[in-house]
Amino acid sequence: MRGINPAYLGKLEDSQKAFVLSGPGKFFADTFLFMPAEHGYVIGPTGSGKTNKLHNLANWLRHTEVIFWISASKDRDILPLFFMGLPVNIIYPKYSGVEITGFPGVVAYSPVNDPSDIFYAIKPDHINILEVRNAFWHEDNLLDFMIQFFHELSEGCRRETLPRIAPPDCHQRGSKISMFLDESQWLIPGLKVTNNPKRVKAREEIADCATQIRTYGWRLIPSSQGFTNVAPIIRENMPAVFLCVNAQVDDVPALRKHCEPHPAIGWKPTSRYKRNEYKFVNRFGVASPNDRPLPVPLYPKKQGDKEIMAGMNIKYARRYHDQPPEESEPEEECFPELGRFSAMAIPPEKSEVQTISRFGQVITDGY
Ligand SMILES: Nc1ncnc2c1ncn2[C@@H]1O[C@H](COP(=O)(O)OP(=O)(O)OP(=O)(O)O)[C@@H](O)[C@H]1O
Ligand SMILES: [Mg+2]
Repeated sequence: MRGINPAYLGKLEDSQKAFVLSGPGKFFADTFLFMPAEHGYVIGPTGSGKTNKLHNLANWLRHTEVIFWISASKDRDILPLFFMGLPVNIIYPKYSGVEITGFPGVVAYSPVNDPSDIFYAIKPDHINILEVRNAFWHEDNLLDFMIQFFHELSEGCRRETLPRIAPPDCHQRGSKISMFLDESQWLIPGLKVTNNPKRVKAREEIADCATQIRTYGWRLIPSSQGFTNVAPIIRENMPAVFLCVNAQVDDVPALRKHCEPHPAIGWKPTSRYKRNEYKFVNRFGVASPNDRPLPVPLYPKKQGDKEIMAGMNIKYARRYHDQPPEESEPEEECFPELGRFSAMAIPPEKSEVQTISRFGQVITDGY
């Protein structure tokens, strides 16, 4: 067991500090928090507290990594992220619109044109939220946007062309970034869930990504209602698992023994967990303690923050990235208004482009 850096302890909330100095806390830190780019998978049926467990993980990881939360579940699920001591940066496709109301602090908004702009829109000293769920009129376009994002992420990591994304006080090489994907089956469903070609493509792209990005310091933390709801290649690449109440994993013996332990062993089955509890099982199938889950807080923690959050709202403009406003179409901008002469105008695609050759002749290039 390694010691814990006092500078790190200094950054923690009091309750976190007490936990990380305990045996189970040290185990969690050593085999998850401090393991470079260790992916984590949160499993539990609806209402089991998955989103809450992701909030908890974000609140731990924000001290050492940049948080990048892909908003995909219920609208209000992102609100607790505003109370974690870091400013929030909302990244959204340019022609859509999102606004947070009722929050007294500053919120940064970063519109992006293409998925590749996202890597430059992420702010290292913020909690970054990608708001794409309501940004497209056609679901296929949303999936295409995300497919391209994951494609560029894995290609950019492989070619080492992505910008480094790490907290300002991180002096190591490479990125340190946690990418949260709640209710991940909308993007990476298992075969049982869908055979829609776009989703299958998204799944392939993200699977490829999950295997590539670890080396470059990117960590993926998806959640899903059932272990098999996400594609096998992805779940096989999720070494750390967080089991919520009623989580069932039949396929993997190392996890099944935590979900449905043999009665003689005296461990608590997941069916007897509470909603505020979960068990972290590391890549070797070990938990600490092994016999029971641990409680975690609900966010925001402070009563004053809960009251502020109750008055907050997320407003989505009825504008969509795949329906850009007409004035943004360049052809329309440069086509002059000709009034009653418009019938005589030669449409641009039929006009002849004249160029002057270096011998002084006019060359007519019809196309
Ligand atoms: N740590 C906690 N402490 C107290 N209550 C909690 C905690 N975690 C979850 N809950 C309660 O359980 C409810 C459901 O939690 P959460 O939304 O995280 O579950 P979920 O699995 O993400 O559900 P869904 O499938 O609907 O998205 C919360 O609204 C909250 O009331
Ligand atoms: Mg949820």
